[in-house]
Amino acid sequence: MFANKMKSLKEIIASYDPSAPLNQAATIPASWYIDERVYELELQNVFAQSWQLAGRSDQVGNPGQYITSEIAGEPIVVVRGADNLLRGFFNVCRHHAAAVMTESEGTANHLRCPYHGWTYSLAGELKGTPDFTGVCDFDRAANGLFPIEAAIWENWVFVRTEAGGQDLPPTDSSSLENFLGVDLITQVRPLDLKSLYWMERRHYSFDCNWKVFVDNYLDGGYHVPHLHKGLDSVLDYSKYMIENGEHFCLQWSPLVSDGAEAQTGAVRTGDRALYYWIYPNFMINWYQGAMDTNLVIPRGVDKTEVIFDFYFPDVSAAARERNEASIEVGQRIQDEDVAICKSVQRGLNSRAYDAGRLSVRREAGEHLFHRLLHADLLNDV
Ligand code: FES
Ligand SMILES: [Fe+2]
Repeated sequence: MFANKMKSLKEIIASYDPSAPLNQAATIPASWYIDERVYELELQNVFAQSWQLAGRSDQVGNPGQYITSEIAGEPIVVVRGADNLLRGFFNVCRHHAAAVMTESEGTANHLRCPYHGWTYSLAGELKGTPDFTGVCDFDRAANGLFPIEAAIWENWVFVRTEAGGQDLPPTDSSSLENFLGVDLITQVRPLDLKSLYWMERRHYSFDCNWKVFVDNYLDGGYHVPHLHKGLDSVLDYSKYMIENGEHFCLQWSPLVSDGAEAQTGAVRTGDRALYYWIYPNFMINWYQGAMDTNLVIPRGVDKTEVIFDFYFPDVSAAARERNEASIEVGQRIQDEDVAICKSVQRGLNSRAYDAGRLSVRREAGEHLFHRLLHADLLNDV
């Protein structure tokens, strides 16, 4: 650790070799999980510059509907305009910086700041400035909300804060599609995710760096037989597959019903489980008749919040009991992961550990994650 503190950020980033093939590769070094400078660099180079989940598309289906969120520490708002176009903005008033929209979602005719009443149109133009006559050299047209990129894919709204600028087209979905890639888009389309409805959101807190959670997710089922006995009883572990795309990894497994643990087997039916990770921090977990998504949010170098959203084909009262049983199975898996993530974080702080090796059979997803991250962190160090 002492040696790491002496190293420059550049040296720390350079200490990972992205060119090693999987059978020779090591993980990213421990310092990447514990050094504040790496954490700050990630917020800037990874979270501000990548497409990030802002909410669900059904929340902004109609003109005037909006959602707010926070991306890499920045408040943002996404709103569907009177012209039906989706637009994203920094949710920061051009007067004295207050958040213009304060609810997490809603419907509005215009965006009015609660502090001094400045009002913006749904397209972000500054319209109303009470008691502002006599102010010289004030160009109202140049004081609209700052735009960011916003686009929809399947059930979700994504935004990107860094590529912002006054000349952005209102909805740049081509850029999001480019990032996701044709391969992912065509794989997900037949799942007909639009037939699933959101039911509930849960927040989990992990005492670890955000990458510990992602690594744990991407270990190709390696930890499942050891930590998740219930889940293990329905997965055909030997047939678990790992397929890397450009910016995503699909892990999938056939499901078995013979010998399934009762609580898990009752709600994990169908012929396969699909686990999609999309760089850097979004996961889609799909089973026949149930889906949940995970959004991994760094809250500090060793604090991570993971937001789970649960979706089902039927969210009526009649289906409630079964849906809740499904959520409980998901909850149990998270509880089982909390302790191991904390244990890993503590070990990463030890002088006895620097980096580890990767299983060729299981850990190709982690290898992809580490290489993509390295490429992003290299920029402007
Ligand atoms: S900060 Fe928004 S009106 Fe003053
Ligand atoms: Fe796990």
